[in-house]
Amino acid sequence: MSTKAAVILAAGKGVRMRSGLSKVLHRICGKELVRHVVDAAKGAGYDRFVVIVSPTNHAAVRDLLTDTVDYAVQSDTLGTGHAVLQAKDLLRGVGTVAVLNGDVPLVRPETLRSLLEHHEARDACATLLTASIDMPGLGRVVRDTDGTIAEIVEERDADESTKAIGEVNVGSYCFNGPWLWDALEKVKPSDGGEYYLPAVVATAVQEGRPPESIEASDPSEALGINDRVQLAEAETILRERIRLHWMKDGVTMPDPSTVYIDADVSLGQDSSILPNTHIRGATSIAERCEIGPNTIVDDARIGSECRVWSSVVEGSELEASVSVGPFTHVRPGSHIAEGVVLGNFAEVNRSTVGRNSKSAHFSYLGDAEVGDDVNIGAGTVTVNYDGVNKQTTRIGDGAFIGCDTMLVAPVEVGEGAQTAAGAVVTKDVPPDALAVGVPARIVDKKKKCSSDGGEDSS
Ligand code: UD1
Ligand code: CA
Repeated sequence: MSTKAAVILAAGKGVRMRSGLSKVLHRICGKELVRHVVDAAKGAGYDRFVVIVSPTNHAAVRDLLTDTVDYAVQSDTLGTGHAVLQAKDLLRGVGTVAVLNGDVPLVRPETLRSLLEHHEARDACATLLTASIDMPGLGRVVRDTDGTIAEIVEERDADESTKAIGEVNVGSYCFNGPWLWDALEKVKPSDGGEYYLPAVVATAVQEGRPPESIEASDPSEALGINDRVQLAEAETILRERIRLHWMKDGVTMPDPSTVYIDADVSLGQDSSILPNTHIRGATSIAERCEIGPNTIVDDARIGSECRVWSSVVEGSELEASVSVGPFTHVRPGSHIAEGVVLGNFAEVNRSTVGRNSKSAHFSYLGDAEVGDDVNIGAGTVTVNYDGVNKQTTRIGDGAFIGCDTMLVAPVEVGEGAQTAAGAVVTKDVPPDALAVGVPARIVDKKKKCSSDGGEDSS
């Protein structure tokens, strides 16, 4: 059985968010608060997780975290101590139990690891993470003259001198499991009827085993999210951390303050992220890419040595050495192979584009399967939607699509085939043939060349 479990508290009402969405599902840098906390616990070395949910957010939290964690439902919101008790049956016999507030998302894995190591080295019954910061609303750490922790006083219960204490309870704790379950049973409700988790401190003190503590080296880790102002503050702090992380990892950002990178993004060495660029979701960008300026990349995989500028790429994969933009939109479900150029004003939607193909000027490729070495002329449109169904266009390797061609799907242009400027292609074009006119007729490419293009004039 695991000896290190983390309980994540996520059942609170979050009234101050004034939101239909559960507080712990709000996001900073594209990632839900509760997922920040679970991932920090994973990074700290915990291997078992119990998330305390409410009847109202249970389904949504489970959708997010799936079966990577266990769940315990707190039916009534009776306070943080009561919330932790809901995990007792699942964690009976577990030696070390961390408790982490689900609304404190900036705590680093390294900090939680130090907390755990200190706790185990001292064989404490309780170890608290504290921070020296003037942050209204948090519980104050009251110490005796010898420095041992005497109690945690919530701000709402604090007198003026207690409020003046600069050391606060972050809301991340380590406990000896069996001791915790006993101590929680002894907690009496507060004046407001809540069972406070920090009240177990008094039990430890009475037993002559006052809690241990470590102080967070970066006080911003203590920021708890109770309203949208704190949500924005946390986002600002995390965004800066993320930028510093990637710059130290070999990514160039000439103007970092205008670059927005989500928490789940990964960036390759010697890539540059130019001003006014947003990299969102689970995007990965490989080495030596140039992304931006003025670009949005969302949930995309981008291979090495790509250039994307003044464009939007979402839900798609770009292989190596692809050039996108300016003013191009690659929409979800697209796969763009190595060496492709999607130049000015190209839109690609649910399509594959083969190696070294080019669409250098305004065009729409929707539900298209484009082969290798295809040239898409300016103004080409795949007419993929008949008002009811979406239809597929296939373009074979080496085909040449003339300017202003309408490809009325379902339709296929064979390998090496050509369409003349302005053709409206309603029937399949065989390999190496030429389609001309409105609606397009098939002519022999060689014959056309030898007959001086006369057939094109009718
Ligand atoms: C809590 C601490 C406070 C600490 C602060 C750090 C208590 C009583 N106080 O205060 O000392 O400084 O966190 O941010 O613990 N929750 C439940 N069930 C409940 C109540 C809360 O699951 O019945 C969850 C919430 O979803 C939240 C977390 O517990 O994720 C903390 O609850 P919250 O009400 O925000 O506590 P604070 O007042 O911030
Ligand atoms: Ca809180």
